[in-house]
Amino acid sequence: MTNGEGTPAVSSNPATIAAAPKPGAPQSPARRKFLSWFGLAWASFAAATMGALSLVGRFMFPNVLFEPPTSFKAGFPDDYEVGSVDTRWKEKFGVFMVRTAEGIYALSVVCTHLGCTVNWQGGENKFKCPCHGSGYYKSGINFEGPTPRPLERFAISLAEDGQILVDKSRKFQQEKGQWNDPSSFLNL
Ligand code: FES
Repeated sequence: MTNGEGTPAVSSNPATIAAAPKPGAPQSPARRKFLSWFGLAWASFAAATMGALSLVGRFMFPNVLFEPPTSFKAGFPDDYEVGSVDTRWKEKFGVFMVRTAEGIYALSVVCTHLGCTVNWQGGENKFKCPCHGSGYYKSGINFEGPTPRPLERFAISLAEDGQILVDKSRKFQQEKGQWNDPSSFLNL
């Protein structure tokens, strides 16, 4: 509706004027209730959306388990004293290096009873498990406690640069005759 000059007519109806909200005027209870429900709905929607996005994110970027490498260089043969059990790789790689007059072998620190970590007890010249008391000679052969079999050895060789290379992906079990495998012992 125009006033005949092309501009909208301004209503002079008092009811229409009364219905228009005045700036700064207090909101009615019904309007406040509507706004609070609206806000709640938005918050719920946003939370659900964030949850869904985080699930998608976990799918796109799954957890990666960083494990120590299975092969490592253990220094040069001269770094090891004949007759010694070297524990320097125990924490990082789970390996004892045992140097004999003939060569060197890499023993696993894992007890073959139930998997605890054994300790080298130089004073008693043996490996001892703190969990149930299994004991092993320097060779890795078991002689006391509940363990049914010796410690395991890892593959060992000399790298091109002359360092000792231990490959934990290859294990050798004495009770299966695998300690006769040339890879289980490094002749020096
Ligand atoms: S785990 Fe070593 S003795 Fe039981």
